[in-house]
Amino acid sequence: MSQLRVFGLVIFTLITVVACGGQNGSAELTDNQKNLVAERLAPHGSVVMAGQAVVSAVASVVGRTGESIYASNCQACHNYGVAGAPKTGDVAAWADRLTKGIETVYANAINGIGGMPAKGTCMDCSDDEIIATIDYMLENSQ
Ligand code: HEC
Repeated sequence: MSQLRVFGLVIFTLITVVACGGQNGSAELTDNQKNLVAERLAPHGSVVMAGQAVVSAVASVVGRTGESIYASNCQACHNYGVAGAPKTGDVAAWADRLTKGIETVYANAINGIGGMPAKGTCMDCSDDEIIATIDYMLENSQ
């Protein structure tokens, strides 16, 4: 754990600085000592920031994407044209659907239409997630 090692270094530096201060008979840090502490703290701060970046990167990977929602909720019908579902990759079928305007296509998928269940059965999907999934389908049907 490099974070632990850096933390250890910071503690060591602080103890050293405090010990030196004691020799001078004063708990006050000299400007030079303060700079030393700041220098030692700087890498620690950047390690923490790097750690946070990793955490948010992991969160976005774990989060659902249009592609992952498609795989779990839509492909059963839209890969094979079940009940007349426009197939993903069928350029003509999607071009035809889009003639009514993309907002209508989004709304129909969110509310359901004919054999298309509301939100394609992904009831815990937000509207934005459904839209991202439709965008994924359209990107693969051009
Ligand atoms: C049970 C099968 C089924 C599932 C699951 C399903 N669909 Fe559909 N979908 C259909 C059918 C059938 C239609 C055609 C409906 C019609 O026009 O009568 C359709 C149509 C659509 C349309 C076109 C709407 C329009 O206005 O023409 C979109 C967009 C769509 N689905 C998106 C999705 C998404 C996104 C998912 C997954 C979250 C999904 N579907 C899951 C069966 C399904």
